[in-house]
Amino acid sequence: MKLKKPWWNQPGIQIASVLVALIIVGGIVGGIFLTQTPPEQPIAFPHNRHVAIGASCLYCHTGATLGPSAGLPGIEKCWGCHQQVQKQSPELTKLAGYVERNEAIPWVPVAIQPDFVHFKHSPHLNAGLQCSACHGDLSKMKVAEPQKGQNMGWCLQCHKNTAPEQWTKLSDCATCHY
Ligand code: HEC
Ligand code: HEC
Ligand code: HEC
Ligand code: HEC
Ligand code: HEC
Repeated sequence: MKLKKPWWNQPGIQIASVLVALIIVGGIVGGIFLTQTPPEQPIAFPHNRHVAIGASCLYCHTGATLGPSAGLPGIEKCWGCHQQVQKQSPELTKLAGYVERNEAIPWVPVAIQPDFVHFKHSPHLNAGLQCSACHGDLSKMKVAEPQKGQNMGWCLQCHKNTAPEQWTKLSDCATCHY
């Protein structure tokens, strides 16, 4: 007769424990190493002042509701307004320099996941989530600030809370790693 394995040695339990361990370790590592200090950007772009004049997030990040990436605005979009705005400042002189050289501004990414993670914006926005649920309140920031602890546990935690009826799919490894 085959002896029944103790509960903690059942295959299902083992996978669950590994998953739980990954989430805990990930949370600790993320919490320690990810600070909210934004990286040095080529231009000190003020989100707060652009949101205050009424520019919407989607006006500059047009891809967010349409597909996987939100995208960043190109220099044509900046210049569309700034050749009209009669204002001198060191940061705007830098902008004029990029436009003159017809050179893309080399922004440093702050909201980024490793290549083996597949994240799409559109299904999240179609589910009614606001940008601020994941990126913080940009109307109070200058350049975008990295958010703490956005690891696998963060994704799973929100999936469990906001879409429990889809938990089987939204916790499946292949949904995010393929
Ligand atoms: C919808 C029009 C519009 C677009 C598009 C726009 N800006 Fe602006 N921007 C403004 C206005 C208006 C101000 C002045 C706001 C104020 O004084 O509070 C401003 C302010 C700024 C400032 C601060 C200037 C200072 O006082 O030093 C910077 C830097 C800047 N914009 C860069 C950019 C860059 C880079 C882009 C493209 C990624 C861009 N802007 C796109 C309208 C725009
Ligand atoms: C459910 C969480 C979530 C929501 C809601 C969300 N984002 Fe994101 N965003 C992310 C994640 C995760 C990344 C990193 C994606 C990657 O590296 O593959 C990201 C990346 C970005 C980036 C940089 C890379 C890119 O996609 O171009 C921009 C810009 C951005 N988001 C803007 C927005 C805007 C604007 C909104 C609202 C219209 C929004 N996001 C809503 C989670 C979210
Ligand atoms: C006038 C154009 C403009 C508007 C409006 C704007 N952004 Fe941005 N956004 C930018 C630029 C330029 C950058 C790159 C510099 C930086 O990281 O701050 C950026 C960067 C970001 C990033 C980080 C992207 C990355 O590559 O990691 C996020 C997230 C983001 N914006 C979200 C938002 C949200 C949410 C709103 C609305 C509240 C918004 N933005 C409104 C121009 C804009
Ligand atoms: C703030 C809550 C929240 C966060 C954070 C979040 N998600 Fe989601 N995610 C959702 C919701 C809600 C849905 C269900 C959308 C629907 O109803 O189809 C979803 C659906 C998905 C789907 C399935 C989309 C499709 O094509 O049907 C994938 C893949 C996904 N999320 C990946 C991620 C990844 C990867 C992360 C972390 C980097 C993440 N999510 C973070 C709320 C979130
Ligand atoms: C909802 C999306 C999502 C699901 C479902 C998911 N992961 Fe992840 N996973 C992520 C994200 C985001 C990262 C990158 C951030 C991090 O390291 O926590 C990641 C990272 C990892 C890593 C690398 C960890 C490290 O520290 O480098 C491994 C291994 C992993 N996942 C395995 C799995 C396994 C096994 C499953 C199924 C039991 C799974 N993932 C399900 C989103 C997901």
